[in-house]
Amino acid sequence: MAFTELVFSGVQPTGNLHLGNYLGAIVNFVKMQETHNCIYCVVDMHAITQGVDVWGGPTELARNTREVTAAFIAAGIDPKKHIVFNQSQVAGHAELAWIFNCVARVGWLNRMTQFKEKAGKDRENASIGLYDYPVLMAADILLYRATHVPVGEDQKQHLELSRDIAQKFNNDFADSIRRSGFDDGLFFPLPEPLIMGPATRVMSLRDGTKKMSKSDASDYSRINLTDDADAIAQKIRKAKTDPEPLPSEEKGLEARPEADNLVGIFAALSARSKQDVLREFGGGQFSSFKNALVELCVSKLSPIAGEMKRLVADPAYIDRVLIDGADRARALADQTMTKTKDIVGFIRGQTGPW
Ligand code: TYM
Repeated sequence: MAFTELVFSGVQPTGNLHLGNYLGAIVNFVKMQETHNCIYCVVDMHAITQGVDVWGGPTELARNTREVTAAFIAAGIDPKKHIVFNQSQVAGHAELAWIFNCVARVGWLNRMTQFKEKAGKDRENASIGLYDYPVLMAADILLYRATHVPVGEDQKQHLELSRDIAQKFNNDFADSIRRSGFDDGLFFPLPEPLIMGPATRVMSLRDGTKKMSKSDASDYSRINLTDDADAIAQKIRKAKTDPEPLPSEEKGLEARPEADNLVGIFAALSARSKQDVLREFGGGQFSSFKNALVELCVSKLSPIAGEMKRLVADPAYIDRVLIDGADRARALADQTMTKTKDIVGFIRGQTGPW
């Protein structure tokens, strides 16, 4: 069966939304609206998978959930034409994750590099939720039978797991899926990752070999979407570079991670290729390139920061967006859950929504 194309993606409300989230994911969320129906989710259930010292507790979680929603809207996502909501409002995410827990294999999860990174040395003390994170992620996507998932490079392995889960579910329940009217035995699509643009992996401004991350102790490692012009300028001027001038060819960026990163950021923000950026700045010193990068960053990010500020000052509006989005998401999710329950053999009563 040809699945109707549908885009789904999510962002965790864990504070410090940064340029990596913006260029690796949100810019592409905005773009996909032109060609597809899109569902964008603030994944508050994923946010609580690490210790409360990481996600900050209830007040912080609610604040961050509203802030990510504001960032979506400020960046240009239209919550009327598309769906914007927070995950915990649609029970199907947790329900489908349970069924997928019984499809996914321990061996598959043991290979997840992000769990190893996040759990660190004290793996025994990590939450079961952190271990199970990628299964919930598969449920997020497949609850809507979404076909395309714009994400940054770091999510590639999780997307592969989502495909494995979809495929194993389709195989395990092939007969039942056919009896439910899907003649080709395919109930879930195998979702495709969309890893697009010149900044799919934005690196730390302090160390070009480390990913730009919400959790880096140094605020100088990242540009936050809420940073003002002065902060952006300071962080870019202090960003680590090397003593060589910029190369004129893209291959000259090899083994120069900091230079590669800054050129990639410039290219992504100006919707040009890295080669094109080097044509302009190649042979020049970092200082003049950095000045141009500051100007570009401020001109692209300041309007978003301003709009985010305006939106978070009106939490009632944000909450209405999330409630309306969740109502529409739930209507779609319920259709998938009804069929999934029939396929698995769960008897459905009269009292529930099904
Ligand atoms: P999160 O909140 O960690 O990241 C949100 C998005 O930002 C991308 N990203 C980056 N891209 C480029 N450079 C970086 N330094 C960088 N850091 C983060 C991430 O790849 C991501 O696209 N697990 C997801 C959230 C999620 C999800 C889903 C995504 C939950 N369910 C279903 C897609 C579909 C995550 O990493 O969130």
